[in-house]
Amino acid sequence: MTQATAPLTAADLAATRRPLAEAVTLPAAAYVSESVFALEQRGIFARSWLCAGREADIPKAGDWFLREIAGESVVVTRGADGAIHAWHNVCRHRGSRLLEEARGSGLKRVLCPYHSWSYELDGRLQQAPGMADDPRCRDLRLAPVRVAARDGFLYLNLDSDAVALETALADLPDFSRFRMGDLVCGRRIEYDVAANWKLLCENYSECYHCPNAHPQLHRISDLFARADRVNRSGQCFNGGPMLMREGVQTMSMSGRSNLPQIPGLPADDHRHVYYYVIYPNFLLSPHPDYVLTHTAWPLAPDRTRVICEWLFTAEAVAQPGFDPSDVIDFWDVTNRQDWKLCERTQLGAGSRGFKPGPYTPVEDCVHVFDSWYAGRMATLV
Ligand code: FES
Ligand SMILES: [Fe+2]
Repeated sequence: MTQATAPLTAADLAATRRPLAEAVTLPAAAYVSESVFALEQRGIFARSWLCAGREADIPKAGDWFLREIAGESVVVTRGADGAIHAWHNVCRHRGSRLLEEARGSGLKRVLCPYHSWSYELDGRLQQAPGMADDPRCRDLRLAPVRVAARDGFLYLNLDSDAVALETALADLPDFSRFRMGDLVCGRRIEYDVAANWKLLCENYSECYHCPNAHPQLHRISDLFARADRVNRSGQCFNGGPMLMREGVQTMSMSGRSNLPQIPGLPADDHRHVYYYVIYPNFLLSPHPDYVLTHTAWPLAPDRTRVICEWLFTAEAVAQPGFDPSDVIDFWDVTNRQDWKLCERTQLGAGSRGFKPGPYTPVEDCVHVFDSWYAGRMATLV
């Protein structure tokens, strides 16, 4: 049996869930197996609240964007009533895909290109040619997808039986002081990474690699100088702070900030950057003057699309000559360094020579993430 077809066993998952000092990393199957990928898609991605964008991505009635979740195309749109709606991108007649562009605006109704059935933006059937009096069409609507907003982020859930978003995120630490609902996206970069989505989450969860891999980042924050390091975890998240070096203002190429700070932050927040994984695939990084987000969208066992956004204060974005390149360049360089590491690890995970290894003490958050994953998968295998 090759690594690519080996099953994920209960014993493998239990070995990862042992205490940090005794645990080993996930087995190769978690990174390379098509059947594990299919199980994750069905058992995790099709059943979790997933951060899919920002309310401000669709500010006006008729704005919309598509998001693909667990192989399903979902349309998120703002209706004439100002409310946000999400529905499966599937016609209720014979199933044609309705919208194809990744995003757009000015949509008045949704017209199926096949036989011209049309829908309101909230998904209700408007017209079906030749079927005006047919009672079977009276209550037809596009299959809804659950959508909810928090801190300006829009979350989707394909599972109609899932608990409410507020319940799912009940133990997430309070980030309200970062005023994320008011922040504005100043830049989005999408990356295609030839690595499993979990390798990206694991890599994000430790800075053990930083002295070697990130010379720019290491100049700004030193993993081993984190005497005050306190990581936290709960049912929906894990993460913690990282201390910036003396005199550093933010994570940027220069280590300086030329942007307005997020107003009202306590002094302690001006010395730290926070790194949180919100399960399964949302990486949230508040800084003193901006919030960085990554969402990792699995495309295949060895392919992930990463959407990276930088959120700034409205005041910063409105400044004449607003130029965030110091922070964009910093994270773009760092991202690419990280993707390269993840891609190398993906190659290793596919090898016969791969065996789960031990976690170091500074990989405690990787262990917490893997243990969360192993716990979820243990209910599915
Ligand atoms: S499939 Fe959409 S109108 Fe026929
Ligand atoms: Fe990194």
